[in-house]
Amino acid sequence: MADVEEREDLEVLLRDEDVFDPPEEFRKQANFNDPAVYDEAEGDWQAWWESWAKKLDWFEPWETVLEWNAPWAKWFKEGKINASYNCLDRHVDNGKGDKVAYHWVGEDGDTRDVTYSELLEMTQRFANVLKKLGVEKGDVVGIYMPMLPETPAAMLGCARIGAIHNVVFGGFSVNSVKERMEVSDAKVLVTADASLRRGKPMPMKEKVDDILGDELPSLKSVIVVKRTDEDTPMTEGRDHWWHEISQEVDTDCEPEQLEAEHPLYILYTSGSTAKPKGIVHTTGGYMTGVAATHEVVFDLKPDDDVYWCAADIGWVTGHSYIVYGPLANCTTSILYEGAPDFPDKDRWWEIVEKYGVTILYTAPTAIRACIKWGDEYPNKHDLSSLRLLGSVGEPINPRAWAWYHKVIGGERCPVVDTWWQTETGHIMITPLPGITRTKPGSATQPFPGIEAAVVRKDGEIVEEGGGFLTLRRPWPGMARTLYKEDDRFVETYWSKYGKDIYNVGDAAKIDSDGYFWIVGRTDDVINVSGHRMSTMEIESAIVSHEKVAEAACIGAKDEDTGQAVVAFVTLEGRAGEGDDDMVQEIRDHVADKIGKLARPKRIVWADDLPKTRSGKIMRRLLKDIAEGRELGDVTTLRDPTVTEKIREKVASGQTDE
Ligand code: WT7
Repeated sequence: MADVEEREDLEVLLRDEDVFDPPEEFRKQANFNDPAVYDEAEGDWQAWWESWAKKLDWFEPWETVLEWNAPWAKWFKEGKINASYNCLDRHVDNGKGDKVAYHWVGEDGDTRDVTYSELLEMTQRFANVLKKLGVEKGDVVGIYMPMLPETPAAMLGCARIGAIHNVVFGGFSVNSVKERMEVSDAKVLVTADASLRRGKPMPMKEKVDDILGDELPSLKSVIVVKRTDEDTPMTEGRDHWWHEISQEVDTDCEPEQLEAEHPLYILYTSGSTAKPKGIVHTTGGYMTGVAATHEVVFDLKPDDDVYWCAADIGWVTGHSYIVYGPLANCTTSILYEGAPDFPDKDRWWEIVEKYGVTILYTAPTAIRACIKWGDEYPNKHDLSSLRLLGSVGEPINPRAWAWYHKVIGGERCPVVDTWWQTETGHIMITPLPGITRTKPGSATQPFPGIEAAVVRKDGEIVEEGGGFLTLRRPWPGMARTLYKEDDRFVETYWSKYGKDIYNVGDAAKIDSDGYFWIVGRTDDVINVSGHRMSTMEIESAIVSHEKVAEAACIGAKDEDTGQAVVAFVTLEGRAGEGDDDMVQEIRDHVADKIGKLARPKRIVWADDLPKTRSGKIMRRLLKDIAEGRELGDVTTLRDPTVTEKIREKVASGQTDE
């Protein structure tokens, strides 16, 4: 990113001790512009969250705000609620039925406006179709979809009847779908005939067929949404076209009155081991947390704003800030199907201009890509409707922050750098746009009511300096467990510093103003373009290739994607260096096992890997080599010469893509 680092116009922006006050115009009109909100929440944080829960519609009230048997939390325990009712019915009942919930923008230029009434009808049909296919409260339904209006409707259809959705990002391979359906005993899978990628239809259902059958005995039915005109294989009795089966059911479906702690969804995410973790979120607390943070952090004005979270629904960002938060708040959102640079690199800005987008929420990787493409693309469009910009998924480098602030936000929009995780359910550390003085690169301070601290290895709190990030009291949207793995939940998150302190897994710094600076993961999780992946998972995909003897993966710093996967691979029989075909074969193999996003950017052929005497691969050394750092003491290695050989190969740029 040499160019952005050298730009003097951004330099000027970053002076003045790098502190930005909320723009005065913005501050004056902000929902929250009095710092007293922090004290109020701190004074009684349970009452603070309770005040947000009261803004939702409950069938029955709670008596207990929080029951906390660390690490097991129950929020609003006796309350009865339904997420789809809160996202849809209550707005329609309030006279907002004709309001647009989603301006859907297809990649091919197709558009579709879906109102709250229409979304409610589609949701009820989904719910009734699921019932017709035998789905009951507590059953799991898989969703493997492109970004279509049917995607949120399918999720809400599950929520309506108390079925638990398990969404798999459309960019993952069907093998990942299979694994996730298998562990959760999904009964039904919702998918599409195909998705559009850069103008080309990519078959989905046809691929899904490869995993159906004997190995997934619980999965009895597939609902197929038609997106393209591709020929699509359909198996009688098992596969159903959505446009047909949806017409065979009623448009009315009473929302199930669910306990606050009824699971809303499972979302698999990567952990330190090869096996993904099924994060479980429940209904009442999660809805409270996403609705509150969406309203406060984005300064939402439901009647005026056109809000765009440019993530994919397949990730938690989409679950919380495309579906549940925005709909709970009766927001009008953009739902965009395609890539940011198709048909051209100004696609996003064309959409911002056309719909008058006021709030944009995206990831640093996307911002860095736009910087590379050049200012001329945003400059071609009128972006003056924008009033707030958000960032999520990975640390944002100050230059990218400054570019976003200046070129996209015209220096009038506050930038909120929001830190959170799949596990936290909603935003945890963030500026409040009408209150917080921002420092580019810092997610600033915990959301009101949240307690965070940086600690040393021994758990001692660091007042100023670096260490490990922890969260020190429960919050409503917190993950309740890992699906079918309670022990792993306790061990991963609630053991290291005590059973009531949440171990985040991120390294962080805290400065003299008490601002948090998130550095990155401390475990074997890597972050490529804001997408979370496990090095172990990628390694086990690579070694499952018949010609591979051993592999180690690391996430190396990358100027475009934050981190990039680098794989060190030893071929079977120490066959030396693979050729270009072999590189391709391994990359394809990983795409097939996990998904394209997990493909190594670079493969380094290694006759041997650096191991301790007990045989443990020293990934840290490989990371140091890949990032060009000096190595410390290597004498504890079984064969200290290995690192030198690898370093030479890395330096010679061998097999670089
Ligand atoms: C990990 C969580 C939050 C939804 C998308 C990612 C990193 C996330 C930030 C940020 C620095 C960030 C952390 C975190 N991360 N947001 N604003 N600044 N790092 O969710 O896939 O569960 O990943 O993403 O390392 O632990 P996820």
